Amino acid sequence: MKIINNDKELEALFPDWARALSGRHWTPMHVAARAAEFLAVQPGTKILDIGSGVGKFCLTGAMFHANVDFYGIEFRENLVQVAKDCAAKLELTNVHFEARDINTVTLKNYDSFYFYNSFYENIAVDERIDEKVTLSVSLYKQYQAYILRQLEKLPSGTRLATFYGNDTYVPRNYHVVGTYMDELLKFWVKI
Ligand SMILES: C[S@@+](CC[C@H](N)C(=O)[O-])C[C@H]1O[C@@H](n2cnc3c(N)ncnc32)[C@H](O)[C@@H]1O
Repeated sequence: MKIINNDKELEALFPDWARALSGRHWTPMHVAARAAEFLAVQPGTKILDIGSGVGKFCLTGAMFHANVDFYGIEFRENLVQVAKDCAAKLELTNVHFEARDINTVTLKNYDSFYFYNSFYENIAVDERIDEKVTLSVSLYKQYQAYILRQLEKLPSGTRLATFYGNDTYVPRNYHVVGTYMDELLKFWVKI
């Protein structure tokens, strides 16, 4: 396994078009590291990134938590391919990427969750990554409701980290137990 500990080196593994999206769409490594530290509760923990992009959160976490598995679900196939290529270049065996719509994924198959405001581009036209997927206000509401329902059903003690989100995705039975970067990153635990 290779270890990289700065954004520039990690992003050098991406093709130019994916690196160009970094500033706005991919988690900075110092944020990913803090979130992964909170979510990696014990050896064997399965951590899901809901909308994993080119995999920055999962790749960072997997490099620093070799005894934990990171799963990225992402519906844009070209982004998943970049993430898989990077995992191979870094020789990581504890990270797994799959091209799927998150609304086909059952969250109870995982233990901890990372969420970087993934559905926002449905309601903010200027924030769209590309035109490869269908986006709409109505889909935004559907995704939001799906994630809320899924999170609600998880066992007490479940951990969630949200970055740049509004809190409407988070059920009331999750409480904030810490923050980072002026509350842009929030750490939640289900009571
Ligand atoms: C803000 S980016 C965050 C990427 C990654 N989590 C990170 O932190 O670097 C959100 C990602 O969620 C993906 N996404 C949005 N809606 C999705 C859905 N319904 N199913 C799967 N992926 C989705 C987008 O394609 C985008 O790559």
